[in-house]
Amino acid sequence: METGTAPQVTVNSEVLDLEGTDPCTNALDWLRSRGLTGAKEGCAEGECGACAVMVARPDGVGGTHWAAVNACLAPAGSLAGREVVTAEGLGAPDRLHPVQAEMAVRGGSQCGYCTPGFVCSMAAEYYRADRRATAAGPGTGAGDAAARPHAHEAPGPNGFDLVAISGNLCRCTGYRPIRDAAFALGFPAEDDPLATPAEDRPSTPARARVDGPAGSYVRPADLAEALQLVGQHPDAVLVAGSTDWGVDVNLRGSRAPFVIGIDRLPELRALERTPDHLEIGAALTLAELERGLAGSVPLLSAVFPQFASPLVRNTATVGGNLATGSPIGDLAPALLALEASVVLEGPAGSRVVPLDAYFTGYRRSVRRPDELIRSLRVPLPLGRVSAFHKVAKRRFDDISSVAVGISLHVEDGVVARARIGVGGVAATPLRATATEAALQGRPWTERTVRAAAAVLREEGTPIDDHRASAAYRRAMLAASLVRLWAEGETAETVHA
Ligand SMILES: Cc1cc2nc3c(=O)[nH]c(=O)nc-3n(C[C@H](O)[C@H](O)[C@H](O)COP(=O)(O)OP(=O)(O)OC[C@H]3O[C@@H](n4cnc5c(N)ncnc54)[C@H](O)[C@@H]3O)c2cc1C
Ligand code: FES
Ligand code: FES
Repeated sequence: METGTAPQVTVNSEVLDLEGTDPCTNALDWLRSRGLTGAKEGCAEGECGACAVMVARPDGVGGTHWAAVNACLAPAGSLAGREVVTAEGLGAPDRLHPVQAEMAVRGGSQCGYCTPGFVCSMAAEYYRADRRATAAGPGTGAGDAAARPHAHEAPGPNGFDLVAISGNLCRCTGYRPIRDAAFALGFPAEDDPLATPAEDRPSTPARARVDGPAGSYVRPADLAEALQLVGQHPDAVLVAGSTDWGVDVNLRGSRAPFVIGIDRLPELRALERTPDHLEIGAALTLAELERGLAGSVPLLSAVFPQFASPLVRNTATVGGNLATGSPIGDLAPALLALEASVVLEGPAGSRVVPLDAYFTGYRRSVRRPDELIRSLRVPLPLGRVSAFHKVAKRRFDDISSVAVGISLHVEDGVVARARIGVGGVAATPLRATATEAALQGRPWTERTVRAAAAVLREEGTPIDDHRASAAYRRAMLAASLVRLWAEGETAETVHA
């Protein structure tokens, strides 16, 4: 294949060469090896945010914005053609960035280990284009209090959304001074170089190739080229957001001589609505999908805030979530309830597989090694009553013990169609078909719900493990349907 443009990345306004970097070298190690030692390694698995940096990325609605990401998970090669800002690029001791200045004067930094990561997450939120609108009051933007389960998550008077820093951990400050710093921030000055209009920033890097001593990172320009590469390199690893693969590399020693980056393939990045279905590109990140859908699929709107942290959602893709075949991935139960199909693309063309026929066993699926997930297809119209319930040890930023997606078409008080997807109760995500049958054709009443909940309790084959006991998982399944009923009117109002 052509090598395309030189593998360069712009870091803090300086163009740096990536050539000679191995595909398993992550962006954090690469930046630190260039003397940019602000970003730290805390956990190396996407949990702490000490490694956060800002990357200019498409905002999902036609422009470009600063997204904070975990540098410990991204392959350095994936930065080719991008623009990156680290804590050093925000400011210096004699000219602190407003975020750094507020953190300093309000005691938001003590030992300082977490601080460079915090200031990058905070700066990305500082530059969020619609923050000013959110500051004008709730109901005007991403910080809409009505969409939030807890009042303490409401945006600050300056519109700063604390969710933006929920992927950053600090062991020293107790967080209060950090919140004070966030809420004290003003708005970017007109001559702030980082507030340059989004259109001026590179958002669609061309194909790239970075060769290192132990292998290559290659980003093909389009789907045809990607499929060709997969055919030529059967040992290649496909990487999209790298939030799963990055953990494998850092903690489990995974290595690959040939890595194919598919996160920029244009064919995998479309979000389209036709009269009868919604097409969701597999390489869209969770954050891009959330912005692109703008609340139009309530069931997915309920998933986004419960999925990892903003740092992870800024890179984790829809396709990556399904491709891992994890029985506790959050999207599968939701997409099963939405009756989604998987569009697979291989050398012989494309085929469409209903999601409930996609998983074949623990982390196995019908996808052949030479196929990519191109998109997810969700039929329209959507059920009017829907919910996504995730039970985890922590409210946010945790993997599910049990997850339930529910979508009901209720017509004239009768359940005309029911689809329920469950995760965490078997070797694969699955549809609760017996429960669906117990609901369909029945009046949408508490009596029906309680009878169906008893059926849902018995779905799957849950096991005892370190996350939860089988008995607890069964109890949570049953509770899910009862909770949807109990929240009844709220669910329909919020989700309609
Ligand atoms: C801190 C942390 C928290 C997390 N929290 C959650 C959570 O709350 N809920 C949850 O469900 N998951 C969670 N995850 C898991 C992970 O973020 C998701 O599974 C994510 O969607 C994976 O997408 P990715 O693009 O990063 O995948 P990658 O790591 O890039 O790829 C994962 C696998 O999928 C394959 N792949 C990727 N895209 C395609 C494609 N289009 N076609 C074929 N194969 C493909 C790759 O080859 C690879 O084998 C978390 C991960 C971390 C690190
Ligand atoms: S080092 Fe903890 S998220 Fe990267
Ligand atoms: S200031 Fe010490 S970890 Fe945050």
